[in-house]
Amino acid sequence: MAKEEMLRIAEELARSAGSLIRKKLGGCFTTGYKSCPADLVTEVDKQSQAIILDGLQKHFPSHCLVAEEKENSVFSPGDRATWYVDPLDGTTNFVFGLPFCAVSIALTENESAVLGVVYDPLRDEMFTAVRGSGTMLNGSPVKVDRSRNTLEQSLLVTGFPVNPKNKELMAAARMKDVIFKSLNLRALGSAALELAYVACGRLTGFWEVTLRPWDVAAGAILVKESGGEVSGIMGEPLKLSEYVSIVASNGAIHRDLLDTLGYKNFPL
Ligand code: 2AM
Ligand code: CA
Repeated sequence: MAKEEMLRIAEELARSAGSLIRKKLGGCFTTGYKSCPADLVTEVDKQSQAIILDGLQKHFPSHCLVAEEKENSVFSPGDRATWYVDPLDGTTNFVFGLPFCAVSIALTENESAVLGVVYDPLRDEMFTAVRGSGTMLNGSPVKVDRSRNTLEQSLLVTGFPVNPKNKELMAAARMKDVIFKSLNLRALGSAALELAYVACGRLTGFWEVTLRPWDVAAGAILVKESGGEVSGIMGEPLKLSEYVSIVASNGAIHRDLLDTLGYKNFPL
């Protein structure tokens, strides 16, 4: 099947799941937690995931599925075509009625991203990319903002881990240097949408530690295809392993952002 056709299927599933999220935001739903009391999950995460995984299974029965609320996800699929699904990225925002969340779907082949979809159901913004074909927002091409080539001109974004053991790695960033050197810093609460915003130039650079592969798989290809750069926090090639610590940017500030964060000398 052509990649454009696979993208169309992923978009359609993201729209269906997104319409459920749109209806439920600010309404009634059951909330529980996973690894710790701050690691929230709702019935909407699970319902959204069921819509997407059922659709993917129907269209691509031989493909591997890795998803946030799915038990026994295989994190080293090797050369199998693999879908990474975050059915509701920004669950904490969603629970608080803060309108900043997304559906994220990506496909990899031989561990390399082939296509990605990040859908913001509350603004009806569909970010898509197919390898080699650039990044689109609602069907129109978008690019990173390369005109900002210093940290002083850059609006950065990050996120804060919920698990106490991961907070140590976040706290090891040279936050004071980042705050003093950058134009300003945000934490918006959805890694997938933050990466999409870097891809379309609304933000200049992003980093976050100990995310999961479904948070970043789609956003990373959006940034690459829009002319930006994506790496691990030490500047190494990004790997979609069980936990992912990531830096993404417009490319122009990438080295400076890595150096300023200072993870190069941190014993991971
Ligand atoms: P989620 O909303 O799908 O859980 C916010 O800083 C980012 O961190 C969001 O993309 C959020 O994804 C992610 N996140 C939340 N809890 C997490 C956890 N326990 N481990 C890794 N990432 C998490
Ligand atoms: Ca997520």
